[in-house]
Amino acid sequence: MFKMKFILGVLLLSVVAFAQENVVPIICPVPGNPDPTTVTEDQCNTYTACEYTSGICHMKQNNESGYLLASEPVVSTTGIQLSLKKANPENTLFGADIEELTVDILYHHNYHFEIKIYDSSQSRYEVPIQRNLPDTPGTDPIFEIRTPTAVDEPFYIDVRRKSTGSVLFRTVGPLTFEDQFIQLTSHVYSPYFYGIGEICHSSLLRSFDERITNVLFARDRAPYPGSQDNLYGSHPYYINIEDYEGNTHSVFLDNSNAIEYSTFLIGSTPSVTIRTIGGILDFHFFLGPTPDDVTVQYTEFIGRPFLPPYWSLGFQLSRYGYNSLDNYKDTQYFDIDYMDGRRDFTYDETNFATLPDVATQLHSENMKLVLMFDPAIAIDFDTYPPSQRGKDSDVYVKYSDPSYIPDDQPASTSDYVVGNSVGFDGVWIDMNEPSNFGTNTDQYFDATGRGALQCPDNNLEKPPYGTLVASTASTSTLSEATICMSSKQTDGTNDYLHYDVHNIYGFSESVATYRGLTETVLPGERPFVLTRSSFPGTGQYVAHWLGDNKSAWEDLKASIIARPDWPNVLQASKDALTIRYKYLPFLYTSLHRAHMFGNSAIRPVFSVFPSDLNARGIDDQFFWSDKLLVAPVVEQGATGRYIYLPNSLWYDLLDGTLVAHMTTVLYVETPIEKIPLYVKGGSILPFQSPSLTTVESRNNPFGLTIALDSNNFAEGELFWDDGHTEHTMDESYIGTFTYDQGNLTLSIQYNQDIASDLVLTSINVYGYPFKPI
Ligand SMILES: *[C@@H]1O[C@H](CO)[C@@H](O)[C@H](O)[C@H]1NC(C)=O
Ligand SMILES: *[C@@H]1O[C@H](CO)[C@@H](O)[C@H](O)[C@H]1NC(C)=O
Ligand SMILES: *[C@@H]1O[C@H](CO)[C@@H](O)[C@H](O)[C@H]1NC(C)=O
Repeated sequence: MFKMKFILGVLLLSVVAFAQENVVPIICPVPGNPDPTTVTEDQCNTYTACEYTSGICHMKQNNESGYLLASEPVVSTTGIQLSLKKANPENTLFGADIEELTVDILYHHNYHFEIKIYDSSQSRYEVPIQRNLPDTPGTDPIFEIRTPTAVDEPFYIDVRRKSTGSVLFRTVGPLTFEDQFIQLTSHVYSPYFYGIGEICHSSLLRSFDERITNVLFARDRAPYPGSQDNLYGSHPYYINIEDYEGNTHSVFLDNSNAIEYSTFLIGSTPSVTIRTIGGILDFHFFLGPTPDDVTVQYTEFIGRPFLPPYWSLGFQLSRYGYNSLDNYKDTQYFDIDYMDGRRDFTYDETNFATLPDVATQLHSENMKLVLMFDPAIAIDFDTYPPSQRGKDSDVYVKYSDPSYIPDDQPASTSDYVVGNSVGFDGVWIDMNEPSNFGTNTDQYFDATGRGALQCPDNNLEKPPYGTLVASTASTSTLSEATICMSSKQTDGTNDYLHYDVHNIYGFSESVATYRGLTETVLPGERPFVLTRSSFPGTGQYVAHWLGDNKSAWEDLKASIIARPDWPNVLQASKDALTIRYKYLPFLYTSLHRAHMFGNSAIRPVFSVFPSDLNARGIDDQFFWSDKLLVAPVVEQGATGRYIYLPNSLWYDLLDGTLVAHMTTVLYVETPIEKIPLYVKGGSILPFQSPSLTTVESRNNPFGLTIALDSNNFAEGELFWDDGHTEHTMDESYIGTFTYDQGNLTLSIQYNQDIASDLVLTSINVYGYPFKPI
């Protein structure tokens, strides 16, 4: 019943077979047929870029269906530029091949470079999101890049870590670059591979044993544990731990079109195939070398996560289906039930008539209220002013061609037609994949009898290679559950096809909502916005939740419900929340560190112990910062669990007992009120006595939990500010604590006066070697 997953055994290191490079079989992407072994020879032969040998339809060799170097590489201090030409224009998959490509290898920081592959003669769609890059490149890069040097040599890229010589990325087989289909295959260094989302992977560590293909395309689909479905957002990003030492790098593909990623073995070498159906290839590599370093470097590029207001770390309650205010008690989140006819910026004056009073009441009790908004605006120009305002500001998504407008569309508009004041504190933006019910089906009708959105028949709606998005959709279209790919959007300056910007719809709404709050609605306040659809960079503006369902917590909930002592749930929840509230100053300090410097506030075990091979497979334990290990029970009905404690001193957070002083697998009983929590030796955690709300807790005296390491040493820090106005370091306090052989030192890094009212009343030392005097 209790299982502990270990990846015991040998670390698989890549053996890159350069001589074999031209004969590596890269399977041919036959539309709608992800299983290469079932493609027939006749089917295969319809693609001139493919050939059928040994029962498999695969890409012809690099020098036949790929690209060759067209001229000598241009090498400079800022990078390398390659010009490529198609090896044989006759060989194609879906047509519209780009004949001439440019490859820019751009050095940024010593640990960060970019590989950008694009059409040499015509500009194509590129993700219109501003990223952060240094003005001048680093002068001592820790990477080394090899490319072909002789004209007519087949194209490849080889990326190494200088210090170890490890080959982190080595393209194999042909690059394919067509208007609506781009494909590249590469070896990766080791099978310690994490990421590519948003998908409910069944384990944190990806597997290469069988070929697994995932697709990234924002869609309104509830997470189902272990399924390979694409969910609400797109994060084309992976982390790869290379070796025994724990050297780690990560790779981000900045592309917002529908993307497919396959993981599989070539021989014994873990490999990935990356496919996208639009835009360009724009890879960013971050070389760490630690797992936490790659996160710091990645968030330096895409933007650091926002600092949440303190109240948003407290107890949150929400459900869809409250129906009326009578059913809300302490609740803070209001799902769409509160709206009048599901219209944004309104509330139901019958069932939710007293909503403004409820808001006032909640505020007087130091509680907060978060309202939900959906992106679809009801079209009722006469009685619903937001719809006219939207029209006046020309913000609606349009049909990109007049011939696409359906006959039953009201005249004079090419817009889509789909179907008081409350003092709120935060905004919850849902349905922003964007979601639309019934697209391309005859199943949905609005109040006027109008049917569901029907998209035109063209190569944007049905691309030659539709990815798993189309082949797994009941309507076989990319627009299933969303709006038409051939519709048009604008950012005020440029027009875009929804086909290209679909995955950044939630990103744009997040930025607009954040700006609306900071600039107009709640100026001076620190915004809290919660989004369902996300893309790399949204973390600067918004928080994210994993849709209507979650894997582990669903099981956790079920196990609580199934227990015969079910009345204890209330007490158990209170106990768990009390501990959380007590350590909120520590969590808040960690979130501030993430905001300022990019170190993760919540970390996988491998990130804190990168050279521990067992830690690399653990996904039911996690850290707050690098100090507090949380090991929740996630198995239904479990009365205990095994906990993996890597090499350190470990103390039970609650009673201070030393539970381990080296690598240990611990079995603990887990009565319902217990969440196993362990503090790592060497840590100081600031805390506050908890009260009912975060506002009240913040007024209580502080304490420190000091957990000593084997040298009787510990350190930690406290960040403090008013918790709710715009964050500035001028209004912030940072103090660091050091405990060394009995001496506790507090050193103030910022603004003593901000903390002048704070009182420190208790110090708990875990592992103290002597009787205190
Ligand atoms: C491609 O390379 C292989 C050897 O690796 C060679 O046999 C073949 O003739 C080459 N094809 C072309 C078109 O140059
Ligand atoms: C949650 O997921 C389960 C399957 O795990 C599914 O039966 C259920 O309908 C989902 N609920 C929602 C609200 O999507
Ligand atoms: C502790 O502080 C005292 C007084 O400043 C000093 O004499 C002593 O050396 C310190 N001990 C350590 C281990 O730093």
